[in-house]
Amino acid sequence: MADPSEKRKEVKKKIRKLEGLPALPPIIQKLNALIEDERSSLTQIADLIEKDQVITTKVLRLANSAFYGFPRKVSTVQQAMMLLGINVLKILIMTSSIFEIISKEDVGLWEHSVGVAACAKILAEMKEVSDPQEIATAGLLHDLGKVVQMIAFKEDYEEVKRKVEDGLSPLQAELEVFGIDHAEMGAFLMMQWNLPERLIEMVNSHHDLSRSKKYRKESALLHLADLLVHARGYGETTYVGLPPFDPKALTILKVDPSEIKEIYLKLEPRLYELKFFTEELKREMT
Ligand SMILES: [Fe+2]
Ligand SMILES: [Fe+2]
Repeated sequence: MADPSEKRKEVKKKIRKLEGLPALPPIIQKLNALIEDERSSLTQIADLIEKDQVITTKVLRLANSAFYGFPRKVSTVQQAMMLLGINVLKILIMTSSIFEIISKEDVGLWEHSVGVAACAKILAEMKEVSDPQEIATAGLLHDLGKVVQMIAFKEDYEEVKRKVEDGLSPLQAELEVFGIDHAEMGAFLMMQWNLPERLIEMVNSHHDLSRSKKYRKESALLHLADLLVHARGYGETTYVGLPPFDPKALTILKVDPSEIKEIYLKLEPRLYELKFFTEELKREMT
């Protein structure tokens, strides 16, 4: 068996070079320049994005996916920008290739991710954590490390699955194979992409709250959202069972167990819509 600490170095090196991973779309640089320039208008930004048909389609699809729960369909980039805010839109553009991979490679993981995004947004609204739309993107990205394993480390990923079948816990199996778990892997990739620090910390600590230092409330929120969506049966295909839960999350967030029912009541219609969305995706793929 490979030495996990050596493997850990190799994994980080590969992620740093983005080997085997989708590159950031070239539009990002121009977009950054426009966003930073105070004189640029929303129309200018929307025009730039709309020039790229592929990105536009991806972004509109994400904006329309169940986790944002807009009553009307979002049909233009400008509309998406007004509803989501420019920062969220930027994150969606940057990560749209990854979302495409998740939805194609593993619909179960995609469903799980969108479910956690929806739940994270609901929790952020209930607990008045700032910018629920941005918190939702952390939900969407939280298992990004698994996508990295799936696409850049295919054989090792199979090895992880075998170990899980043999009875090891998924996190333990990842540590044995990679010397690093998917939470840290995903956070590391997000760092390379310069995503907001708050989102990176949330993703890094979503299975281990002790990794959270600065954004304890947000991290607890993601930890709880992940559990609630798993418990509702929207888990990933390869990882069965519930992930370990740290009850401190409830204290940090001041969530009373009786509130869980309220959360589910709000989440249920979103999950219902989500089923339609993924069914549609599956049809498109076949
Ligand atoms: Fe996870
Ligand atoms: Fe998860």
